[in-house]
Amino acid sequence: MYLVSAKEMLQEAERGRYAVGHFNLNNMESVRAFLLAAQETHTPIILGVSGGTAKYMGGYRTITDMVQDFMHYLDINVPVALHVDHGKYEEALAAIEQGFSSVMFDGSSYPIEENIAKTKEVVRLAHAKGISVEAEVGGIGGEEDGKISMGECADPAQCEQMASLGIDFLAAGIGNIHGKYPADWKGLNFSLLGEIKRRTGDMPLVLHGGSCIPDDQIRKAISLGVGKINVNTECQMAFTEAVRKYIEEGRDLTSKGFAPRALLAGGLDATKAMCIKKMTLFGCLGKA
Ligand code: 13P
Repeated sequence: MYLVSAKEMLQEAERGRYAVGHFNLNNMESVRAFLLAAQETHTPIILGVSGGTAKYMGGYRTITDMVQDFMHYLDINVPVALHVDHGKYEEALAAIEQGFSSVMFDGSSYPIEENIAKTKEVVRLAHAKGISVEAEVGGIGGEEDGKISMGECADPAQCEQMASLGIDFLAAGIGNIHGKYPADWKGLNFSLLGEIKRRTGDMPLVLHGGSCIPDDQIRKAISLGVGKINVNTECQMAFTEAVRKYIEEGRDLTSKGFAPRALLAGGLDATKAMCIKKMTLFGCLGKA
């Protein structure tokens, strides 16, 4: 099966009141881990690629080819969308040219008028090729590719304006932040989420910073209209914890245990297990 737009899978999630998981790629092991998790559980999946990952893994074309070739090699036949995460304008345009099936244009650092103008152009170019588009209003707090900002709450009127531009799904800050949450975090702002949903109709909403949010808050966010949840940090932590355990047990010092494939194998399995755990929580397991 080839890469698909994320639009249809999120529309189905909206109708079925569950959320599809977006999992960030970081290396080759993560590509394998997420594709196998999706296939073995018969679940649709969105693979997210940040600007940092794109540079690390050889650019959008290389990643498109790698994911498609892995899908062919592993016989993947569940829906897989390859999605730009927090793309700058130029990054979104490059990914549209280089085989991605979904893009996020994050114009949240621009004044709203410029964010709207650029989002419209991304929508025009992406939709001409059947590629889905995510836009963002208001920054998402935390650390994302070196950018640090405090947790923000999006303006519902701006969300309504953005949703009317023909985008396919919308990221809006509701107190969520990327990375680990501070001990004094106040939790998701559900009254704001309800207001944004009221103004944006059946537009699927995206929850960034999906790691380390208590399960009951995730379930409530889904019940109020979140249809896509982005997870990176918890999968990275699971990967690194497994690799650390391998080294701490001295397994790299026995036989051929120093081989990089052996060193990282546990990390791959732990990433896959975390992915399946999140899919189960999001309610999308088995929905392919
Ligand atoms: P976490 O790293 O907090 O899981 O957030 C991922 C994300 O939102 C990517 O856009």
